[in-house]
Amino acid sequence: MQLIDKVIIVTGGGHGIGRALCHRFAQERPRGLIVADLDAEAAESVAQEVAGVAIPGDVCDETHIQQLVAEAEARWDRVDLFCSNAGSTIKGGVETPDADWQRMWELHVLSNVYAARAALPGMLARGHGYFLQTSSAAGLLTEIGSAAYSVTKHATVSFAEWLSINYRRAGIRVSCLCPSGVQTDMLNLNDPVHQFLQSHALSPDDVAECVVRGIDEEEFLILPHPEVGEFFASKPQDYDRWLHQFSRMKEKWERPRKLRPAA
Ligand SMILES: NC(=O)c1ccc[n+]([C@@H]2O[C@H](COP(=O)([O-])OP(=O)(O)OC[C@H]3O[C@@H](n4cnc5c(N)ncnc54)[C@H](O)[C@@H]3O)[C@@H](O)[C@H]2O)c1
Repeated sequence: MQLIDKVIIVTGGGHGIGRALCHRFAQERPRGLIVADLDAEAAESVAQEVAGVAIPGDVCDETHIQQLVAEAEARWDRVDLFCSNAGSTIKGGVETPDADWQRMWELHVLSNVYAARAALPGMLARGHGYFLQTSSAAGLLTEIGSAAYSVTKHATVSFAEWLSINYRRAGIRVSCLCPSGVQTDMLNLNDPVHQFLQSHALSPDDVAECVVRGIDEEEFLILPHPEVGEFFASKPQDYDRWLHQFSRMKEKWERPRKLRPAA
């Protein structure tokens, strides 16, 4: 799908990848662009930079997502592309409190369900529409060090697949963005996994460029880091070997920490 004259919503548009998406989409001369973010000031600032409309709010609140779609339909009669991009991470394994699991579930899964619920009726009536859902390499592989992030980002991929399969013949297209490291505030440089991701991280602008190309070609999986596709392809070929490789990586990344003297 080409983005010229399209009506686009980007959640998490105030910072990082979402901000870069807004800037890159603006170059394609869309008809309307809504910049949504929990951070109202950041949404406003990006909206001014791209001649868009800022709408602050929490994507975990279904009424906020309904408001985004209602505002786009009131101003420009439709939503052509809904980018569910807002996200965050949380460290931890099985000890992660239920409330944090719930927050990750709402942020990475339910927000996408809310977007589909709100935008699909108009899209189906017009016979076309597009969803971009930002998952992560962790959604195809894993994020060592964050069980809740890995599981919910897998669920993002799963929901995107489901949406694509069920609505493809009705003219709906879905892309799932699965980057590895990207130079944004999300990378925590005190974390050994993130230090590794940072070493081969792309800029948000590089990712936005891949997204525009992926949407133009209507690709389901958008993989700005080609090595993610290679690791993903190796998984079903020998699952046990793949698990072994990741457990060795975990051991390697944790080694320098073990050597540090106790505080
Ligand atoms: N940076 C990476 O290395 C990386 C890698 C893979 C996937 N991702 C994914 O990319 C997406 C964007 O992350 P980023 O790297 O740009 O991080 P970022 O922290 O720079 O931007 C995330 C944005 O989402 C907003 N946000 C967070 N929770 C929200 C909520 N509940 N409601 C509305 N807005 C909310 C934040 O205010 C922020 O503007 C996320 O889904 C993230 O999981 C990032």
